[in-house]
Amino acid sequence: MLKGKHIVVGVTGGVAAYKACELVSRLSKQQATVEVMMTEAATSFVKPETFQALSRNQVVTGLFQSVKYWEIEHISLAQKTDAVIIAPATANIIGKIANGIADDFLSTMVMASTVPVVLAPAMNTQMYENPIFQRNMEVLKSHGYHFVDPCEGLLACGDIGKGKMAEPATLEDYLINLLIPKQDLAGYRILVTAGPTREEIDPVRYITNYSSGKMGYALAEMAKKRGAQVTLVTGPCQIPVPKVDEVVSVLSTKEMLQAVMSRYEEQDAVVKAAAVADYRPADRAAQKIKKQDDETISLALVKNPDILWELGKIKKDQVLVGFAAETENLVKHATSKIKHKNLDLIVANDLTLPGVGFDHDTNQVTLLFPDGRSQQIPMEEKTKIADSILNEVVHLLRQKHARK
Ligand code: PMT
Repeated sequence: MLKGKHIVVGVTGGVAAYKACELVSRLSKQQATVEVMMTEAATSFVKPETFQALSRNQVVTGLFQSVKYWEIEHISLAQKTDAVIIAPATANIIGKIANGIADDFLSTMVMASTVPVVLAPAMNTQMYENPIFQRNMEVLKSHGYHFVDPCEGLLACGDIGKGKMAEPATLEDYLINLLIPKQDLAGYRILVTAGPTREEIDPVRYITNYSSGKMGYALAEMAKKRGAQVTLVTGPCQIPVPKVDEVVSVLSTKEMLQAVMSRYEEQDAVVKAAAVADYRPADRAAQKIKKQDDETISLALVKNPDILWELGKIKKDQVLVGFAAETENLVKHATSKIKHKNLDLIVANDLTLPGVGFDHDTNQVTLLFPDGRSQQIPMEEKTKIADSILNEVVHLLRQKHARK
């Protein structure tokens, strides 16, 4: 499955370095091009020759054998690589990357790399639980680094606890999932709404909200990667638009309603991540409203159509997913929307939590289903949250199609 992929395996100094041999062997058997990069400390545990034989490639060690070679090669390696995996990843290398230290070939290459970097920590339990290490790990996660959690077991130091490097087969699976996205949405049409809507007051002012579009764009991007035919209906956002099949830009709720309704019939699923304005000014002034002498001014608002409610009303076989962004009584408010809007799933964000909801790169959500089931998705990058939501969408689509 990994044929043609170029993977750099970084090996740092820990007893689990011997397990990296099996990882390299597995990746080579998959016909990936594997280049091993060892820190100096790693060479005390396994000889470079072993990795050379298993990868059938030159092994780069942490030593600055040739400065010229090192300066050029770490950039060119970073550019031709599909993924970097560091296994085992010591507290030292994780601390270095998290703090921008690049003082050997491996750390420099990681710093120059723009491809996914997977870290498989291996260390003593106390080190793993040390708040400084945990902070470093969180910093890297927030920058999109991937972690494959260590397992519990008998550690090299004799302790029993968390810190044992994940098995090579687990790491291999992780790379496959990362580099070969599932195509479980192939054949399905999905419409995603994203961003805020904008309700004009006059030619220079409007009502809107803090939605950046990140959540909706992540859903559209991941659905596309998983093979769906994706339509993205987006309010005004300042972030790069993902490459999907159709992008429809709208401003107001009414425009969003029109864009969604006219495409609804042909969709298998609609995911409404947009933050839609519930009200709009009763009248949009044709000219800029001038400042007056009165201390207060009133703005009459009228209710906007509820797009999701409209969709729920005429739903046939579509899977309908709503979002709820709440500042109080999250589950109660979100649950009431499931029934009211005839949803198959609602994704609830608790806006009072740090890193959750509007404009963050991360999110933490609760999935709520009509049968009362619920599922917590812990704090992750929005792309990963999107993937977890889409897992449920796939499930719901299969259930609906099986019933047909
Ligand atoms: O865009 P980001 O910065 O990444 O932030 C993500 C997000 C917080 C905007 C997103 O995750 C989210 O929660 N979106 C829904 C926010 C919202 O408007 O919640 P609501 O409880 O007001 O609406 C419930 C559902 O009804 C939503 O799916 C909404 O799209 C839909 N709705 C609401 C009002 C309306 N008039 N029409 C609708 O379709």
